[in-house]
Amino acid sequence: MCSSAVVFAVLAALYCNVPVSVESNLRLNYRPIIGILAQENILGDPHAQGSSYIAASYVKYLESAGARVVPIRINRTNEEYVKLFHSINGLLLPGGDVDLQKSQYSRSSKIFYDLAIKANDASDYFPIWGTCQGFQQLTVLTSSKNLLTLTDTKAVALPLTFTPAAQNSRLLKTFPKDLLQSLSAENITSNFHSWSLSLQNFTRNVKLKRFYKVLSINTDSKKEFISTMEAYRYPFYAVQWHPEKSPFEWIDKPGMVHTLSSIRASFHTASFFVSEAMKSQHSFSSPREEEKYLIYNYSPVFRGLSSVFVQNYYFD
Ligand SMILES: *[C@@H]1O[C@H](CO)[C@@H](O)[C@H](O)[C@H]1NC(C)=O
Ligand SMILES: *[C@@H]1O[C@H](CO)[C@@H](O)[C@H](O)[C@H]1NC(C)=O
Ligand SMILES: *[C@@H]1O[C@H](CO)[C@@H](O)[C@H](O)[C@H]1NC(C)=O
Repeated sequence: MCSSAVVFAVLAALYCNVPVSVESNLRLNYRPIIGILAQENILGDPHAQGSSYIAASYVKYLESAGARVVPIRINRTNEEYVKLFHSINGLLLPGGDVDLQKSQYSRSSKIFYDLAIKANDASDYFPIWGTCQGFQQLTVLTSSKNLLTLTDTKAVALPLTFTPAAQNSRLLKTFPKDLLQSLSAENITSNFHSWSLSLQNFTRNVKLKRFYKVLSINTDSKKEFISTMEAYRYPFYAVQWHPEKSPFEWIDKPGMVHTLSSIRASFHTASFFVSEAMKSQHSFSSPREEEKYLIYNYSPVFRGLSSVFVQNYYFD
């Protein structure tokens, strides 16, 4: 059971601050299922059915890298979330436009975040990925405060400015060198956010600073903000940009990028996160339960080529 290599890896992780991934690289789950959190419908969405949605681009993004998806619907009971937590292998908090402290999206995020902290502390591997609003939600959960600031980053493609820590990060060290080069030299990361976590507020907040390693920053020419980060001791990852848009969203406007390098960057982020989910051993209690929850039970709605999300899944 407990080979000396494993003992060594665990001791190394404990004493040398080796990334958490080393510890649980024992047995990979090649049928990972990742939850994507729904959120309140955008006000006045003419295509809305029910009260919440998931943009289909996030589903395709994870599916393209070898995961299946379960929608995590908002406004469910704590008991249902606990059950789902123990059934899925990771959670993606998508972009969107809801309140980070009062919405049902924020309520559900907090429940899963707290469960994930407890699970990982007990060596039950459970990764979380935050994109854009998901990034911002993670900062609110970790600091118990909203420290975001307005930036001029609403529809712009930017190159990443990597920090020295990027080189040894779990996320970016898996990327091909030429792709990292493209990410740092070409304007291929799509930014569609009004709010950002400035480097200043991050640095001044002890909880955030101790929790996350900053991998890249950007600037709106006035404020430096964090664009990519990963937690030191938890398999939590966050990007302020939108890797899922390049291959899967088609609105024709500034900030959208469909170059080969942008699509490779998208795939490598998804592939990395799915590889993290493969380290989780959670599973549904039966194939029947699994079947009941998978996203295949729902059909995405085509919203037109000029919509920011070309297809959405809608839920009650
Ligand atoms: C679901 O939403 C309704 C209406 O907003 C609210 O009254 C209820 O408390 C919510 N239920 C849960 C479990 O959050
Ligand atoms: C820091 O956070 C506060 C909210 O607590 C916000 O009002 C302020 O604009 C932020 N400042 C910067 C530079 O990010
Ligand atoms: C790329 O983004 C930078 C901002 O980091 C900007 O100064 C530059 O003009 C952009 N280049 C193109 C070709 O859009």
